[in-house]
Amino acid sequence: MSTAEPTYDVIVIGAGAAGLMCGLTAGQRNKRVLVLDHAKQAGKKILISGGGRCNFTNMHTSPEQFLSQNPHFCKSALSRYTQWDFLAMVEKHQIAWHEKTLGQLFCDDSAKDIVAMLMHECKAAGTRVQLRTEILSVRYTAQYHVDTSEGMYIADKLVVACGGLSMPKLGATPLGYQLAKQFNHTIVPVRAGLVPFTLHDHDKASFAELTGVATDVVAEANHVQFKEAMLFTHRGLSGPAMLQISSFWEPGDNINVNLLPNERIGERLRSMRAEQPKLSLANALSRWLPKRLVQVLIERGQWPNKNLADLSNQAIDTIDRDIHGWVIKPNGTEGYRTAEVTLGGVNVDEVSSKTMESLKQPGLYFIGEVLDVTGWLGGYNFQWAWSSGWVAGQSV
Ligand code: FDA
Repeated sequence: MSTAEPTYDVIVIGAGAAGLMCGLTAGQRNKRVLVLDHAKQAGKKILISGGGRCNFTNMHTSPEQFLSQNPHFCKSALSRYTQWDFLAMVEKHQIAWHEKTLGQLFCDDSAKDIVAMLMHECKAAGTRVQLRTEILSVRYTAQYHVDTSEGMYIADKLVVACGGLSMPKLGATPLGYQLAKQFNHTIVPVRAGLVPFTLHDHDKASFAELTGVATDVVAEANHVQFKEAMLFTHRGLSGPAMLQISSFWEPGDNINVNLLPNERIGERLRSMRAEQPKLSLANALSRWLPKRLVQVLIERGQWPNKNLADLSNQAIDTIDRDIHGWVIKPNGTEGYRTAEVTLGGVNVDEVSSKTMESLKQPGLYFIGEVLDVTGWLGGYNFQWAWSSGWVAGQSV
């Protein structure tokens, strides 16, 4: 081994959410840490997340909001470094924050504050973050030899924090999975999650005019339900309800949507028919649903757009069924191009839940999204990155 090659205690590949958290935590333990990333900027996904304000955690975080082949795996890390621990760091840095909805915590000003905080903590801990560095190969011979575009780096421990496949234009690559396979790990099949749906041509044509229309719904696929907003896009369906359900949806599945979860529309229409018989069906439904959506539903449902007085009980029953049990079969999803996360990943049964160390290869760690742990929408995925990064940082 050449003495000219810089040697560290720990090399972390990936200066994203998990990698930075691991780097600063290990640095605080006086480890010599090098964090490598091929991007020009650290934490690119943090910067664009939450519409630029970063939904950095969720007050209600618990293992129930995570998908994995082994749902128990995330428990230890989430309980050792909690949402409150991360919030304490945010407050220490005097970053103003607010709860938007459903326990989701956002920066008041900018996601840049979160990246600046993590970079500051890395620097204070003596952790070196080196960007614009391509990883060429990794070799293990008693130590990890990481060959890069900037030279060879050597360390006793290697942490793989290169994330998943979502948003390749932000620098996502399959490197994490490739390294896992190199060291004999298995990969739970990956697919895009928290991703908008695309529709078949006939549905796309009939909903095209609804682009931008949003309404609160309960969406259900594979016996899982989310009560949030649904948004029509020029490609199909998005909004939190659809993004959430996309992580549970399998190709070919229907999605069942209750378009008016807070009303019993059949009963409402019957009583309105008695009170306002001359009101048209379209005007009646527009009290609860967006007007443009009502027009399209009337056409698609072939409901008679008559005055309420002229609607039979049977017609009202049909409308009730269609509104509370709207069924749509997506054509697919927008895929990794727009997905927020990647489902699946490094098989967690081959990784210690206490330390994130590989059970197959000593000194090798996996953290963050590269693992088969995926959170719901709402700050859970960053919390997983913080918790798993912290746990590994305590152990390396
Ligand atoms: P992350 O992807 O953050 O970091 C991986 C790092 O590895 C990157 O810096 C990348 O450049 C680097 N890398 C990859 N391949 C490499 C290679 N070959 N060589 C060198 N470096 C390499 N979550 C949440 O909780 N709240 C939110 O508001 C949002 N919002 C959001 C918006 C959008 C548009 C997206 C795409 C995602 C979100 N997320 C989110 C999800 C969240 O961003 C994601 O789960 C975490 O960033 C995962 O953290 P990791 O550190 O594991 O990967």
